[in-house]
Amino acid sequence: MRVPFNRPKFAARETEYVLSVLRSGKLRAGGDFTQKCQDLIASRLNNATVLITNSATSALDMSLILCDVGPEDEVIVPTFTFVSCGNSILSCGATPVFVDVEPDTLNIDLVSAASAITPRTKAIMPVHYAGSCYAVTGLRELADKHRIRIIEDASHAIASKVNGKEAGTFGETGAFSFHHSKNITCGEGGALIVNDDRLTDRAGVIHKYGTDYHAFRSGKKSHYEWTDRGSSFMASDLTAAVLLAQLERLDEISNERRATWNRYHDAFEVLERSGVTRPNYCTGSQHNGHIYYLLLPTAADRTAFIAAMASRGIEVTSHYVPLDLTPGGRKFGRSAGELPVAHSAAERLVRFPIWEGIGSLQDAVIEATLAELSF
Ligand SMILES: Cc1ncc(COP(=O)(O)O)c(C=O)c1O
Repeated sequence: MRVPFNRPKFAARETEYVLSVLRSGKLRAGGDFTQKCQDLIASRLNNATVLITNSATSALDMSLILCDVGPEDEVIVPTFTFVSCGNSILSCGATPVFVDVEPDTLNIDLVSAASAITPRTKAIMPVHYAGSCYAVTGLRELADKHRIRIIEDASHAIASKVNGKEAGTFGETGAFSFHHSKNITCGEGGALIVNDDRLTDRAGVIHKYGTDYHAFRSGKKSHYEWTDRGSSFMASDLTAAVLLAQLERLDEISNERRATWNRYHDAFEVLERSGVTRPNYCTGSQHNGHIYYLLLPTAADRTAFIAAMASRGIEVTSHYVPLDLTPGGRKFGRSAGELPVAHSAAERLVRFPIWEGIGSLQDAVIEATLAELSF
């Protein structure tokens, strides 16, 4: 038996759409499939502006340009996140300021974030870790009080909600990831969400090499030229073809993942007696079942557990090395004080296989986990 950590599932429609792009010969960015993906996502997000990108990393890079973050500026970011967050801040010449996370959800800690604000703070980049939403109201109040922009890293969180409102709609801008490891995927891909209408036109320019190509295409200009910062942040229509087929099944996929998540959560309640901690998501937050994780009592327990599960053919895995502890983080960023929750969680966290179609293999994972962790 082998249970992989992740296994994306593609149905006949992905193939049908990809063949349709190939037959049309129009593989470049901005084609019909890209437009349909953008429209479908926008329809879930109060008709926000959506631009399909080649990754969430690109959507974060674009966000920082859009928020005019530059040298001399600081951007607050939870230390428990992916390296893209640190690098996108760095690519604007700004300094990442690492803050702690709170223990129940591993999302940004409001007290730690507040303590990190200085006159140089330009933006905050919270993450909806594992698809559980950070404290959106508290962070918005903090950001507005200090005139700081929120760049919402919703890479994990498509289809997650807080009080009925979709993740991706809480920041001035937001990013989704459609990387191979995410709930819906096109291999590599992402989306930039723009919730502030004043940023919409510029987002189109940054997306397309920093040119006014969109104005040219819509007949407002006779030619297009370099007008702003930007890059090739777009994705091919071939990528969008796969993505559209996945997006059309977004609710179905999210529901199944949530059911798998709930089964783990119920089955592992008994492990709390052994000092194991389960995630504890706040009321009003509806997650999308992106990650199921446990925090084991010690780092040594985690190492032993991963090895024991591997020997049973089951892939369970750790997650981020906190950015402030990495060579890059030490060189390019600074920490706002001690970050004990993130440091401890990162040593003890283990993620479980969760994917559409896992079916009865989940029984084997639960059985093996209970056997290995009932201390
Ligand atoms: C929190 C977070 N942000 C950003 C990214 C980057 O996503 P992408 O691979 O689409 O660039 C990831 C990747 O897993 C992530 O976990």
